[in-house]
Parts: sequence; structure tokens; C-alpha cells
Amino acid sequence: MKREIIITEDGSTTIHIPEWDEQYHSKHGAIQEAYHVFIEMGFFYFLKRNQPKPLQILEIGFGTGLNAIITLIEAKKSKIEVDYIGVEAYPIAPDEVEKLNYTQQLKISSELFQKLHQCNWESLEEITKDFKLLKQKKFFSEIEDQNNFHLIYFDAFGARVQPELWTVEIFQKMYNALKPEGVLVTYSAKGSVRRAMQEVGFTVERLPGPPGKREMLRGTKHSRRKTK
Ligand SMILES: C[S@@+](CC[C@H](N)C(=O)[O-])C[C@H]1O[C@@H](n2cnc3c(N)ncnc32)[C@H](O)[C@@H]1O
Repeated sequence: MKREIIITEDGSTTIHIPEWDEQYHSKHGAIQEAYHVFIEMGFFYFLKRNQPKPLQILEIGFGTGLNAIITLIEAKKSKIEVDYIGVEAYPIAPDEVEKLNYTQQLKISSELFQKLHQCNWESLEEITKDFKLLKQKKFFSEIEDQNNFHLIYFDAFGARVQPELWTVEIFQKMYNALKPEGVLVTYSAKGSVRRAMQEVGFTVERLPGPPGKREMLRGTKHSRRKTK
């Protein structure tokens, strides 16, 4: 499918898929959305309650690496060790990485961002002393982890274009992949998504969304109450 780089309203780039009229991030601001949904409502929320060493994060849709690079930046500031697992079936090409403006927007070295993209797939690579990255090239439907992650960034394309990724089957995999008290955040606020998350056992909160979006969702895997 054809992909083109566009500029969003906060000045940061994203990728647009003309055939689907779908973007990798919100047109209202890619960096703004990523910070709100994944860092504020996920990463900081989790760290306020728990500071595991390392914090294990699963990203559904590694894409441009924007969520990964802002997590690396915030982990360093918070002095937190992170193991970051990014699942992606269709990695972007080096010339697309070149056209993204995240290093200028975030005022970080381009070498650091390039390292996220140039490091090997399928092995846990040390990007910085405190941030390790494992990129897995596979489909989300192939995820079989059990009790592995503290936090999931669920950043698939919208249900309008990929409804098969917002189902009970996929959220069951996410639930299984989380450790007890693990948290999943997503930009979506659709009723059908909320119900699918609840059906597999998540306690779901509706939270204020990023600019341009009224709400988003956060699910927590609370340990089930023991029955007698
Ligand atoms: C909304 S974008 C992710 C944006 C990304 N988090 C970022 O910060 O750039 C969704 C991603 O899911 C990938 N994808 C789509 N369908 C997939 C599937 N079935 N399995 C694995 N990856 C898939 C796409 O290639 C795309 O990179």
C-alpha cells in the first residue's frame, strides 16, 4: 500500500495511507497524541503505582518508532529501566525514517532515533544503558506471550480500516500477555472496543482524549477475586 509523509497540526510528521485515508497518528498532532495517550495515561500512570526493574512494555504497531523514542526520552528522565518490545508486520523503509522530523521536534540526536530503526530485529538490543529494544516482525494475531508485560501501548490502525484487530480474540491475547495489575492504553474510545476489552476481563476506564478527540480507553488486568 502507498504511504506518504504528512505534517500534523503540532508540526510533527506522520505517515498517511491514501488508500485507507488513515494515518499512523492523529492529524491534530502526532507527538501531542503519543505523549497524551501512551506517556501520560500509560507510562506515567503505571510508574506512579509501580516501579518494576525493568518496566516491560509491549507496543502493538512499532511503525515510525515515535512511541518508542518518547518512551526512551521519558524513561531516562524518570531514571527507569525499560525493555520495550515492538511488534510490527510491515516495517517502514529507511527513506521514510529519514523524512520523519521527530529528532528536530523532540530536540534529540538523529543517531539515537536511527539506532531504533537500524538495530537488529528479533533480538533484545541495547539502545541506551537504560532502554533495550526487541523488534518482532510478526502479526499481532501471532502474539502468544503470557504474563510478560506491565504495560501495553495498543496502537493499531483504527477499527474502521482493520476491524479484525479490535476483537475479543485480540484483546484476549493482550490480557494474557499482561502481568497481573498490568495496564493497556489505546487512543480508541469506541463502545465496541470497550465492550471487547471488558469481555476478556479488563476493568476499563474512559479518559479524556488528546486534542481533537473526546475520549480514550485504559484497561487494567486486576487479579480476579478468589471464589470460595
Ligand atoms: C497506527 S500504526 C502504529 C504507529 C506507531 N505506534 C508509531 O508510533 O508510529 C499501526 C501499525 O500496525 C502495523 N500493522 C498493521 N496490521 C498489522 C498486523 N496485523 N500485525 C502487525 N502489524 C500490523 C502497521 O504497519 C503500522 O505500523
